[in-house]
Amino acid sequence: MKKTLQLPYQLQGFLELGDAVIITDSNHIILEVNDSYQSITGFERAKIIGLKAGFIKSNLTSKSTYISMKNSLKELIPWSGILINRKKSGELWHSSITITPFKIEKELFYIGIFRALEQLKEGLYLPENKKIEVQRELLKVLAISCEIRDPGTEEHLIRVQELTEILIKSHNKKNNLQLEPRYINNIIHSSILHDIGKAGMPEGILYKPGALTSSERKIIEMHPLIGADILNKMSKEINYDFIKSMEVAENIILYHHEKWDGTGYPFNLESEKIPFEARIVSIVDVFDALTSRRPYKDSWSKQKALSYIDQNKGKHFDPLIAETFINLF
Ligand SMILES: [Fe+2]
Repeated sequence: MKKTLQLPYQLQGFLELGDAVIITDSNHIILEVNDSYQSITGFERAKIIGLKAGFIKSNLTSKSTYISMKNSLKELIPWSGILINRKKSGELWHSSITITPFKIEKELFYIGIFRALEQLKEGLYLPENKKIEVQRELLKVLAISCEIRDPGTEEHLIRVQELTEILIKSHNKKNNLQLEPRYINNIIHSSILHDIGKAGMPEGILYKPGALTSSERKIIEMHPLIGADILNKMSKEINYDFIKSMEVAENIILYHHEKWDGTGYPFNLESEKIPFEARIVSIVDVFDALTSRRPYKDSWSKQKALSYIDQNKGKHFDPLIAETFINLF
């Protein structure tokens, strides 16, 4: 077993600081932490000495942050950045850290000094979970306001969002797709926007009881294109992360009426040319429409709607996703 290094007396003073401090050897093995580190993270000193300093990582810090840290420390240059770690309680810990390499009698040590971002000036930093919450609410407001003329809209949108979450998580697990959590969340958040293009539809057609004429149908079939246009107009001024999630939203808005056999609209795309996220939302949207009452139809029973989805897998719907969906019930 490799012998654990003793902490040189020259570094002892760092442990007296009020900020959380961690000291490691050159392999990032923890040699010492101070009281602040223990009380902020909830981890007891005796239990974490000898562990790799990264044991506390969440998967929310970007890879580029770790790469820049590694490159800098390799050159023995101090590094500062923002890390999102996880406390013992499971709560996220957003902190700004400075890591300074120290060479003492040919041995290399790293001193990490953390400062919790909550202590920084207001407006400088918005924690990740808050940011996600704000974005989610914004999307909901946008979606509802685009369809405000329909009193049942909010419930429909929430149901679509909830069912999208259940379907995508189950499909991901069942087929071991290993989809990125961020991508999954983008799909869930964006599903609520699928019909924002209905804002541009004349009410007389949108809520017409009975069958549509072919020209009325052509107008309705414009709603994915109008929706994408609304989205593009609003997202230009928003930050990069948000725009990344907008690509998923745009795919859902544009392609949620495409069909697996290429007979859908507006582009007659077929099978896997239809983005995955749109194939997911398409099934959920149709299911919720069938099981709800509309001006032109009564609600179907769950069983009848599921057998419709079963009969149309490989025609309207991605057969694998349809399979997962049916098995949810
Ligand atoms: Fe639609």
